[in-house]
Amino acid sequence: MSEFRITGKAKLAGVIGHPVTHSLSPVLHNYWLARKEIDGAYVPLSVAPDVFVTAVKGLQASGFRGANVTIPHKEAAFAIADEVDPMARIAGSVNTLVFREDGTIHGSSTDGFGYIANLEADGIDVTALANRGPALLLGAGGAARSIATSLLEKGFQVIFSNRTAERADGLANELDAAWRRHFPKGDAPRLSTVAWDKWEEQLSELALVVNTTSLGMQGGPAPDWTPDLSRASSHLVVSDIVYVPQETLFLKAAKERGLTTSGGLGMLLHQARPGFKAWFGADTEVDEATAAYIRAAL
Ligand code: ATR
Repeated sequence: MSEFRITGKAKLAGVIGHPVTHSLSPVLHNYWLARKEIDGAYVPLSVAPDVFVTAVKGLQASGFRGANVTIPHKEAAFAIADEVDPMARIAGSVNTLVFREDGTIHGSSTDGFGYIANLEADGIDVTALANRGPALLLGAGGAARSIATSLLEKGFQVIFSNRTAERADGLANELDAAWRRHFPKGDAPRLSTVAWDKWEEQLSELALVVNTTSLGMQGGPAPDWTPDLSRASSHLVVSDIVYVPQETLFLKAAKERGLTTSGGLGMLLHQARPGFKAWFGADTEVDEATAAYIRAAL
């Protein structure tokens, strides 16, 4: 038994969701806390939408340092924050709240950061990649929204393809308007869409393709989803945010073609780092020991 213990001075944070039972965040943060012997705790907080504001105020009043926020509260978290990071403002979504000593709440969106940090950890030069060609995002849900915003920030041209075309068009228009509002004097973002049954034809032009849907996920709508990558150029980077299985058939097909790939588990680990640093005051490592610990909890 190690000497590590949670005392009356423990720093507190948690994840607010509804449901929250499937969240891996408590496992991850408490792993890092124990490993670093930090006097702190991170707890799951099941909060129904109608009491979200009451719960956040209650956590603040109880001395919590802040919280992660997950489905269905990401928009309510945006609304409750007194100050929101630029990329979270453009994405219209907040997943990390930091309660400041002056009583104000800071909101940020760390999913896009986690996505980019994971590509970099996989040895991909993201800035060079952005100069090589557009990024194609499959899907137009919450994950696509955060990832697209971070890719735009890195200078990518972003193309959405979604089964429901109107959702892809709506997201492209919304991000375009939000970007121009935030950077009225800057370059306009390069956003477009392509039909769901046509994206494979665009592969030769692309630098990056990202699956942000649940296709390929174990227990999801189509676990055996395997797109046709025959038109991919040899420098295409293929990434998937699905992490169960850790290597989706999409990534497997890309690897078999000799393409560079990046899996979803790392994004999950990296997106947790900014919150941990803000609440508990320490940097974290995303190493094999961390990944193995989380894999065992999946
Ligand atoms: P998240 O917030 O995690 O991104 P979401 O908002 O439910 O989740 O989005 C899921 C994405 O997966 C959507 O882009 C969805 O496409 P639709 O907008 O057409 O629903 C996509 N998706 C889910 N099941 C799919 C399937 N069987 N075929 C194609 N796309 C699918």
